[in-house]
Amino acid sequence: MKIIHVVGTRPNFMKIAPLMREMNRYPDHFQQLLVHTGQHYDVNMSHVFFEELNLPKPSRFLDVGSGSHAVQTAKIMEAFEPVLSTNNPDWVVVVGDVNSTLACALVATKMGIKVAHVEAGLRSRDRTMPEEINRLLTDQISDILFTPSEDANMNLLREGIPSEKVYLVGNVMIDTLIEMLPSIKRRTIVADMSLRPQKYIVVTLHRPSNVDNTMTLRKILSALVKSSYKYPVIFPVHPRTRKKILELESEIFEKANVRFLDPLGYLDFLSLVRSSGVVVTDSGGLQEETTFLKVPCLTVRLNTERPITVQVGTNRLVSSENLFQEITQTMIMPPNGENPEMWDGKASERIVKVLRNL
Ligand code: UD1
Repeated sequence: MKIIHVVGTRPNFMKIAPLMREMNRYPDHFQQLLVHTGQHYDVNMSHVFFEELNLPKPSRFLDVGSGSHAVQTAKIMEAFEPVLSTNNPDWVVVVGDVNSTLACALVATKMGIKVAHVEAGLRSRDRTMPEEINRLLTDQISDILFTPSEDANMNLLREGIPSEKVYLVGNVMIDTLIEMLPSIKRRTIVADMSLRPQKYIVVTLHRPSNVDNTMTLRKILSALVKSSYKYPVIFPVHPRTRKKILELESEIFEKANVRFLDPLGYLDFLSLVRSSGVVVTDSGGLQEETTFLKVPCLTVRLNTERPITVQVGTNRLVSSENLFQEITQTMIMPPNGENPEMWDGKASERIVKVLRNL
């Protein structure tokens, strides 16, 4: 079975890595190629993950870069089509919900090549999110859908996707986290930054709804500045967010203990998260990683496509209006959480078993 795996952005790398590793155990069955669209291209948004996660060098780098949604999606489609014509795979495997996911799924299905979507069925029900559109459309055109949790199966059935195409397999991102946990524990970044475990805050923000609106961004940053008088705030800044912060007046940061860093590699970042008192984020994957690590997570969003992390995990949706109070409260009384079913490090094993039996 000839497979082309697609990656494009930072959160794709840790989802494809365990799948490729698992398929490598069956060299007679799978012939694998990795295609990187180049949606993310900075060394610390892309390259570092290949090294740390032991991903093979991509067979093809499409080098599409940034652009509006239409331009980026179109460029990926145009560049991906000849890759499929030349290689003629049996399956294209796409993960998550980014523009690269939808673009490559669309090209493949129109060429009659089967599409497998990993992390299918998640829904925020917020169609102003570009990712929600990517999720809805990718799921409609996929031939096989691998879901991380039961709510995703329900969403797909409600949208008329035949149940024979849907497999509940668990969470591939957690496969990587479990695999990498020993290396994460060996990192010394917490001590190197003179941080005390559970006494600091980790922040990531990159959603347009939070960072593109100056008023909202200012409210979030004010809450972080206020919190930082008590607990240091560690903020590895996404390139999109960096541009927006630079446009704000810098006085608000005077005397504050907010430490802006460049985006970090996987191991250092998860090491910081693991020992933090609370994570403030708008990322999807981080809601899952904090759930698994049982670290309190405050998600600055109105909704989440990962409701399981709120139902059983340590995640809570909060607004920028009362972020400071939420942080203070969480630091004093951290919530308890449970690990969702099948987030056990074996999701890739289940996926590969399904593909082998097709
Ligand atoms: C993308 C995904 C989002 C995902 C996020 C993870 C879509 C629609 N969005 O958002 O779902 O959560 O990745 O990080 O696919 N930039 C750089 N260097 C890079 C990459 C981006 O400087 O390596 C800058 C560029 O100015 C670019 C901006 O960041 O215009 C946004 O990048 P883009 O890939 O469009 O979306 P993200 O916000 O990264």
